[in-house]
Amino acid sequence: MTATATGEIHYDPYDVDLNTDPFPMFRRLREEMPLYYNAEHDFYALSRLDDVRTILMDQETFISGRGAILEIIKADMPIPSGILVFEDPPIHDIHRKLLARMFTPQRIRALEPQVRAECVRILDDVQQRGDFDFVADLGLLLPMRVVGRLIGIPEGEQSEMFENGLDLLHSEPGQPLAGVSSGEAFSDFVDWRAEHPSDDLVTELRTVEFEDEHGTVRQLTREELLLYLTVVATAGADTTTRLIGAMGKLLAEHPDQRRQLADDRSLLGNAIEEIVRYEPPATHLARYVTRDASFNGQTVPAGSVVLALLAAANRDEAHFPNGDTFDVHRKVRAHLSFGNGTHYCLGNALARLEGRIALDEVLTRWPDWEIDMTRARYVTTSLARGWASLPMVI
Ligand code: HEM
Repeated sequence: MTATATGEIHYDPYDVDLNTDPFPMFRRLREEMPLYYNAEHDFYALSRLDDVRTILMDQETFISGRGAILEIIKADMPIPSGILVFEDPPIHDIHRKLLARMFTPQRIRALEPQVRAECVRILDDVQQRGDFDFVADLGLLLPMRVVGRLIGIPEGEQSEMFENGLDLLHSEPGQPLAGVSSGEAFSDFVDWRAEHPSDDLVTELRTVEFEDEHGTVRQLTREELLLYLTVVATAGADTTTRLIGAMGKLLAEHPDQRRQLADDRSLLGNAIEEIVRYEPPATHLARYVTRDASFNGQTVPAGSVVLALLAAANRDEAHFPNGDTFDVHRKVRAHLSFGNGTHYCLGNALARLEGRIALDEVLTRWPDWEIDMTRARYVTTSLARGWASLPMVI
């Protein structure tokens, strides 16, 4: 059931209609029920920015090791080693450090010419065709090419591998998650790369040695490696696709701001920040509660599941005045779209880079645009919300 502005307060992450525009409900949660309990799915939810940040920062009380997704925690399924987003310190920190070598600021900065070249190539093709879908043409393709290149997948095989379900998680609109991937889709590719080493993530991760949580110096197992790659492919592609979709829609709706961006490209970085704050690709994160915790004088008991509503926190008026207003000039202070604390998004600089370049190159070709809403398609799942198709009227 979907609540209205005055009806019952009810937040259901599986409600497709509600998730199409959850923001009125998020406002009511923040104002009227900052600690919310959903009896049907048995979870607590926090919506104020300070509370959400507390959840993400206190990794002893709110752990990821049982999964950072409601269904996974509820299913109490075993989490294989290597899915760092579902791990806790100390093993999380060991696994993260290995991957972090590929995401240093220097390495990401060095990717800029490649990201721009990919973007130009995609948009030049589109321009010749005379038809442009923000998501199908750019939002899907750019992150796939960038992440594919980072991992080391040859370009000719990227689409097939991504289409064949490299996703770590499979979810359908209105349905709980179907399962967690084993990373097998990468198997042949990892074998091929062993014969053809290159300057990429898989080559580096195949050979690197590290001290594990038992003090043993070793290399990653094959299973761990496959899962690492799946985490990067999943985390890096889908989220950025949604960022590019939100960009197309928001700037179509705000032509004055779009013109200012077209005239002054120094605003692009801040504009991306505001787009990510306003329409976070991941609506919420889940945590398992290891000991009683208190919020606003009420207790969240040990053994429960809590949702950190990133999308609600990002519009908390206490931190973002007129939070429901989109404003590319806003001084965007610490939004939570990339998380916070030990799991803070490792790919945040890459996502910001892709977003900025995509917007720059689109504005150069089309300083003005409208969306053909008769053909646009929106999808919400239990994990995320965003545009699946967003054709520009050219
Ligand atoms: C707009 C785009 C993106 C958004 C909104 C986003 C969001 C997030 C969030 C919220 C988390 C924290 C999860 C948690 O605390 O449970 C996270 C973690 C992560 N992200 Fe991103 N992400 C984006 C793009 C990327 C890209 C491009 C990559 C890499 C190519 C990436 C790689 C990762 C990885 C590896 C983690 C796990 C970090 C850890 O557990 O220590 N992300 N991301």
